[in-house]
Amino acid sequence: MSYEEKTLLSKELFERAKRVIPGGVCHNLRYFPPYPFFVEKAWGSRIMDVDGNTYIDYWMGHYTHILGHRHPDVVKAVTDYIKESGYHFGLVNKEEIKLAELVVELVPCAECVRFCCSATEAAMYAVRLARAWTGKDTIMKAVGGWHGASTDLSFGISYPFNERETLGIPDELEARVKLFTFNDWDDTLRAMDECGDDLAAVIIEPVLGVGGFIPATKDYLKSLKNELEKRGALLIFDETITGFRVSPGGYQEFIGVTPHLTVLGKILGGGFPIGAVCGPMDILMMGSYERRKPNRVLVGGGTFSCNPISMVAGRVVLERLLEDKKKIYPYINSLCDSLRKGIEEAGKAYGLKVETTGIGSLFMIHVKKEDVPLRSCEDIYEHTYWDIRDTSLRRFLASHGVHMIHGGGAVSYAHTEEEVEATVNVVGMFFEEFKG
Ligand SMILES: Cc1ncc(COP(=O)(O)O)c(C=O)c1O
Repeated sequence: MSYEEKTLLSKELFERAKRVIPGGVCHNLRYFPPYPFFVEKAWGSRIMDVDGNTYIDYWMGHYTHILGHRHPDVVKAVTDYIKESGYHFGLVNKEEIKLAELVVELVPCAECVRFCCSATEAAMYAVRLARAWTGKDTIMKAVGGWHGASTDLSFGISYPFNERETLGIPDELEARVKLFTFNDWDDTLRAMDECGDDLAAVIIEPVLGVGGFIPATKDYLKSLKNELEKRGALLIFDETITGFRVSPGGYQEFIGVTPHLTVLGKILGGGFPIGAVCGPMDILMMGSYERRKPNRVLVGGGTFSCNPISMVAGRVVLERLLEDKKKIYPYINSLCDSLRKGIEEAGKAYGLKVETTGIGSLFMIHVKKEDVPLRSCEDIYEHTYWDIRDTSLRRFLASHGVHMIHGGGAVSYAHTEEEVEATVNVVGMFFEEFKG
């Protein structure tokens, strides 16, 4: 059965949504042609749509559900909390201390942490703190890096990278952001030199996220930190995706390079909205109520910041990751290794040049035009059929019961070997059709 034949109710809902929501979606990624399926429910590694079709899901709530959808421990903790205490007070409560203590225990750079509602906000605050701390204005970000759509960081995100990312941002702000090629030391130095003595910080996903799931090398990150310290600037890691995923302390623990500030989100909220900026107390104290104008950094506000539901859910997930780290990380990493290998072998079997980037439980499929290694986002756009990932590939997989966005995703503790095998088969069927 074709996708359209299987998703009649979703089609109707999409028509209805378009009448009241521009384009029918409130997050552009959730659209794919001809229309997205509407979710009825999710559990473990699975999603069911309103027409009753089930999918092996690798999107996992934007890579949040490392333990699987609707984890029973999270459901119990959250419902117990709501029944016994409530769900939003807009006041301090002890749940935020418990989660903050865990972040400080786990994340090497975190002497303290400030929670907010999204990683977009957290990245915006990290940049503001870095500018205030250094007294400089220019920020560097990697081509293809995604740190949310804040006005400060909406540059060089999508292809073609040299075109303006969005209308509605004044030229003066664009001049305060310099782009560089991820993992390319010469280009990074070039951009630093262009900043002159105005460089406040480099913000970087240490594993390039939606730009390609490409890990930065240890040497590159070490050089970056040393050079920034020489120039009186800060290194900000955006570990929104990698935090608690590649290891309990994120990529910084895994690779052994500690940044000055870190942005967190996703897994940290246990499936509920969250963002956090963490780092040294003296930098974060610049945002404290104790500082007065003109010497303070405005951090915070946020009606739902530190809401107890995100705090409880996040703590339950982090505690589980800590308790069972010897089981969970080897399991999800080796399952994802099998997936990456299986997909590359399927590509080879159909005579295609397929590379599956990623690390740990993250993966992204690339069908290459040339046999060159993929080290940056530009490599992906130059050397692969990147435009199939969120169009024909996504639709083909969905019509065969597998759900991926950007041609990849994250393996959770709820996924099984059988599901990985089934996924490899379906991706192989796509390769066969793509080969034509
Ligand atoms: C690396 C990175 N930073 C920041 C964000 C923005 O996070 P949020 O959606 O919580 O605002 C994302 C979201 O996908 C992300 O992947």
